[in-house]
Amino acid sequence: MTAPSVSIENNGAVLRLAAGDLNHRFHAIWLRDNALDEATRAAGNGQRLITLGDIPAGTSLTDATLAGDAISVTFAPESKTVEFPLNWLEANSYDRQDRRTDGWLAADIETFDSNLSPDAVSASFSDISTDEAALANWLSHAARFGFARLTGGPTDSGALLKIVDLFGYVRKTNYGKWFEVRTEINPNNLAFTSLGLQAHTDNPYRDPTPTLQILYCLENAAEGGDSQVVDGFGAAERLRDEDPDAFACLAKHCARFEYKGSNGVHLLARRPMIELAPDGELIGVRFNNRSAAPITDVPFDEMEAYYAAYRRFGEIIDDPSMTVSFKLEPGESFIVDNTRVLHARTGYGSARGNRWLQGCYADKDGLMSTLSALRAA
Ligand code: FE2
Repeated sequence: MTAPSVSIENNGAVLRLAAGDLNHRFHAIWLRDNALDEATRAAGNGQRLITLGDIPAGTSLTDATLAGDAISVTFAPESKTVEFPLNWLEANSYDRQDRRTDGWLAADIETFDSNLSPDAVSASFSDISTDEAALANWLSHAARFGFARLTGGPTDSGALLKIVDLFGYVRKTNYGKWFEVRTEINPNNLAFTSLGLQAHTDNPYRDPTPTLQILYCLENAAEGGDSQVVDGFGAAERLRDEDPDAFACLAKHCARFEYKGSNGVHLLARRPMIELAPDGELIGVRFNNRSAAPITDVPFDEMEAYYAAYRRFGEIIDDPSMTVSFKLEPGESFIVDNTRVLHARTGYGSARGNRWLQGCYADKDGLMSTLSALRAA
């Protein structure tokens, strides 16, 4: 490998690091703001000790030299010299030319369709409860695919909370710490009937939406009642590839979602069905026919196109080639990233026996944090 070289360009405004085919430019102000010295960052928790206002606006580089596996740089007017490890600079490089297509996905996300076997993302309850490597592996499925299944768990009411305890915290809602999913008389939600449910994300009427859901089976002797998951990111990608205008239409305009099925509760959120970050990254899908409220934020002249896009998105979501189906046995459960993966169930009859699931919400930041910490251990 060619030895790295450093140079200062643009009158001290830019540092260039060249190493083989790699060529990274860094701005002086960016380097100064990200200095790793103990006057800039707290030694223990790594948090920044200064504000941008503490750094002179005209900060420039006066010297840059290679020092082993690091670069030593000096900033003016502070006459401050700090070191940056080469691998830190490479890991944090932002010198990219590529213009990414709207709907691009982070590198650690993998979309799926009906070819994904639930067995490929499964683990046993006892393994993840006793073995940190098994837990990390299971959480990595949930992070990568937005879906993972657990088998062999206890069949006690509330057992689903033991799963959440392994990585984070339950998100309590008006449905309680957890909710019962079985046929009820006068249900406050259609989930609590024996009707089939179209694939959906849960609770799009909340702000913020719960980002994880666990559905846990305690009894499933009924006929039907199979569980299904659909990758909303995969569906959005497919819509974008076949009709970019339809994709853009659902990303550009807000839908509205509402729930007022119980006394004292009226939840309403205005968000797009396909959510992009300002740089086009696909970061969320909301799809729920039961709680879609009148859509009033689409201009009159675009409403027909919006409805055509909404219809096509639903057709893709309903396409069996997108659906992973499985029947949960007692003690089995699955987790979904509720910002991405839709879940569904087929209708069921109670002639043969009962179907009793429990569900709860949790949040993805806790899962990602635990996964990251386990990987670093
Ligand atoms: Fe649901």
